[in-house]
Amino acid sequence: MTNQYLVAVIGAGPAGLFGARELANQGARVILFNRDIKPGGLAEYGIYPNKHIMKSGLRKQFRQILDIPNLDYYGNVTVGAQGDLTIDDLRALGFQAILVTVGAQGTKWLGLPGEDLEGVYHAKDVVYFYNNLPPFSQKPFRFGKRCAVVGAGNVMLDITHYLAREKKVDEVIAVVRRGPMEVKFEKKEMEYVIDNLDQAALDEEIKRITPSLESVNHDPATARASILVALPKALPKVSNTRFRFEFLASPVQMIGDAEGKLIQVELEDNTLVKTNGDTKAKGTGNRRRLDVETVIFAIGDKVDDSFGLLVEWNEFVKNPNPRFPVDGISYESPIEDVFVGGWSRQASSGLVGLARKDGTNASKAIWQYLQTKQPVEPNVKAIAEKVKGLNKPVVLKEDIKKLEAAELAEAKKQGLEDFKYSNNDDMLQAIGLKVPA
Ligand SMILES: Cc1cc2nc3c(=O)[nH]c(=O)nc-3n(C[C@H](O)[C@H](O)[C@H](O)COP(=O)(O)OP(=O)(O)OC[C@H]3O[C@@H](n4cnc5c(N)ncnc54)[C@H](O)[C@@H]3O)c2cc1C
Ligand SMILES: NC(=O)c1ccc[n+]([C@@H]2O[C@H](COP(=O)([O-])OP(=O)(O)OC[C@H]3O[C@@H](n4cnc5c(N)ncnc54)[C@H](OP(=O)(O)O)[C@@H]3O)[C@@H](O)[C@H]2O)c1
Repeated sequence: MTNQYLVAVIGAGPAGLFGARELANQGARVILFNRDIKPGGLAEYGIYPNKHIMKSGLRKQFRQILDIPNLDYYGNVTVGAQGDLTIDDLRALGFQAILVTVGAQGTKWLGLPGEDLEGVYHAKDVVYFYNNLPPFSQKPFRFGKRCAVVGAGNVMLDITHYLAREKKVDEVIAVVRRGPMEVKFEKKEMEYVIDNLDQAALDEEIKRITPSLESVNHDPATARASILVALPKALPKVSNTRFRFEFLASPVQMIGDAEGKLIQVELEDNTLVKTNGDTKAKGTGNRRRLDVETVIFAIGDKVDDSFGLLVEWNEFVKNPNPRFPVDGISYESPIEDVFVGGWSRQASSGLVGLARKDGTNASKAIWQYLQTKQPVEPNVKAIAEKVKGLNKPVVLKEDIKKLEAAELAEAKKQGLEDFKYSNNDDMLQAIGLKVPA
């Protein structure tokens, strides 16, 4: 056997998969560990379920990556301080470099009173739920008649899309801390829900916030038009859900009933201020309450604190003086052999294309680092034995093929465009692996 560099990639989302491909194409022996049975991360379990063309295109690329001969896949294996394997375990198995591409799995709690009430959720959990990712797919969610979604990004619109077009709730209120000129969502995503938008309420809202808009030289008519820009391509609505915005408002507490169920969210009004060229929200002290049964925070995520790497400002700490920068960016953790990429490097940032580029560049940094080491004879047998000894079903790349074939057959049988098992036992059964007792 020829000597090769041996690299572990932790997390098989777009960043990990494309990062693994880069290293494998360079000739490294790559072992990909993934928490979920299936590869794909948020491309599989985040992207809105009806984006069939995008999802199937990505799955095809992921399949091609898994087919690379010098790349192995171990699904249903968590790595981390509390995982099935630790980083030290990986080192002991001879891995010379470790790429952490586990996404941003932590929750950005704001520490507000009432966050633990029934009906208060974070977007990632809801998105995982409706995309059928175990165990979130098995958890109960309370989507009431009136739902507030905090944030103004594409995730807020995905959640609104789900609430208006699938759950068909009475009302969705987007609670946005700044104004219409600062929203982050894209026109394309607005097309799914803009037919549900209460335009009279938008006009009222623009009128209400006009003094704040004008105080930072924003033209109210331009602000209104920017929210309505998707109208010409509006997808006809399928429910009477009333969608509206509350701009310049931040949640300060959630209020529950005697049974611990959410009944109201309290907001503090904001005004806009210019600071160093940026437009910021500043609380006015004025508080008011909205009657809602559900609040979903769509404000981005943080990395997983429990993974075992240092975390600062919602992200894993990077070496500020990288030895192997790529395009001026540091992909290095402070630990010599541990690198970070994708949403693990920059939480909740950008689309699949960016995660792909980031994972690839992280691997380019690793490849430079490896040039300072000698290639080894990878003991893949010892790695396989270690994984086998975990006392849980571990999913290999051949198993993923079986699972995909089973899901395709099920979709055909049920006349669906796409079918996904929503729990691990069904997936394992479809693969033919022993389901744990
Ligand atoms: C709701 C939502 C919708 C989106 N829609 C779109 C869209 O329509 N179009 C688009 O281009 N982009 C979209 N994005 C963005 C896109 O999904 C991300 O840019 C991309 O998935 C980030 O890739 P990643 O590999 O860094 O992380 P992730 O995709 O999060 O992948 C992380 C992987 O790590 C694994 N993992 C986690 N912890 C561990 C651990 N401890 N051990 C082992 N494995 C672990 C997970 O199982 C997962 O497979 C969306 C994002 C969200 C949140
Ligand atoms: N269809 C798609 O293509 C799609 C779908 C989903 C996600 N994505 C991508 O995935 C990434 C993440 O999306 P995202 O929507 O989670 O993030 P995002 O685009 O960064 O939006 C986050 C929103 O939350 C607000 N926010 C943050 N902290 C807050 C706080 N403490 N209180 C109140 N509001 C707060 C932000 O307001 P401020 O601006 O004031 O900070 C912003 O409006 C983005 O790159 C997005 O484009 C793409």
